[in-house]
Amino acid sequence: MKMIEFKVELNKRIEYIISVLNRYLPAHVKDNQIVVEAMAYSVFAGGKRMRPIFMLETFNILNGKGRKIESFMAAIEMIHTYSLIHDDLPALDNDDLRRGIPTCHVKYGENIAILAGDALLNRAFEVIIEEALINPEIGIIKAMVEIGKASGTNGMIGGQVADILNENKPIDIELLNYIHLHKTSAMIEASFVVGALLANASETEIEIFRKIGKNIGLAFQIQDDLLDVMGTEDELGKPINSDQKNKKITYVALKGVAESTQIVYEQLEEAVEHLKSFDLARCEFLLAFIDYLKTRNH
Ligand code: IPE
Ligand code: IPE
Ligand code: MG
Ligand code: MG
Ligand code: MG
Repeated sequence: MKMIEFKVELNKRIEYIISVLNRYLPAHVKDNQIVVEAMAYSVFAGGKRMRPIFMLETFNILNGKGRKIESFMAAIEMIHTYSLIHDDLPALDNDDLRRGIPTCHVKYGENIAILAGDALLNRAFEVIIEEALINPEIGIIKAMVEIGKASGTNGMIGGQVADILNENKPIDIELLNYIHLHKTSAMIEASFVVGALLANASETEIEIFRKIGKNIGLAFQIQDDLLDVMGTEDELGKPINSDQKNKKITYVALKGVAESTQIVYEQLEEAVEHLKSFDLARCEFLLAFIDYLKTRNH
């Protein structure tokens, strides 16, 4: 796919996801308005929408039918956004810029930012449980469990805990992989797996997409570590050198820039190899997206 065509296709998907998010964010009354406003502030600040895109592409590659995917796309992006709001808090990474604008706690105060994050997490589960109520099929129930696991103690939260507890500690590749595979890959893996589950995929297909998610997730976080030292605040929309400030364990610190860059490339190539088990004509956009990840600067 040519770059110009990719950009058009990417924007179409982003616009669609924004319209879905608009539909699923909660309504407000006068007394809770501020928290709903803070939720919308962070959700609509921008963001690559990578997780819902992966979910949608997987669903379409596997010939998924209907609109049940929409509530799950909204849910994964709401949970992701909550994880960013909390990740930026003074008690965690203490960063003041996200998606190109002041972080939620800078704009609304820590108390409202914590509650906005909590509310996004709750709303995410509310919308998918409602989906299951309308459509109580096994794929939907399994997809709900997948999202619960991926965002919980054996997923993103587990990775975040290890990330925080090991600031300023000696570096060890096993631990670093635990951190990256949990704080970042888990939610990316879940995006692929949920797309597959909602398309009623076979166990084999689901497991291939899980591997793709793991490869892309690991590559993505290593790149995030690289961009933290090599990127620009303008392009990233978040502060650079945040990891150094917080004395984080990163791939750059452990392996250096050249080897980390090589690992990113290898992981993405492995994802492409796995994707070759599917109808490649349907994978065109996802393949172009993986290509774009190789050289991303934001
Ligand atoms: C940022 O995720 C947090 C990491 C897992 C590195 P993204 O880079 O996907 O953030 P947005 O959604 O585009 O803002
Ligand atoms: C955070 O990793 C991953 C999350 C679960 C939010 P980072 O702390 O490196 O993400 P950024 O660099 O702040 O986006
Ligand atoms: Mg962090
Ligand atoms: Mg951070
Ligand atoms: Mg980072």
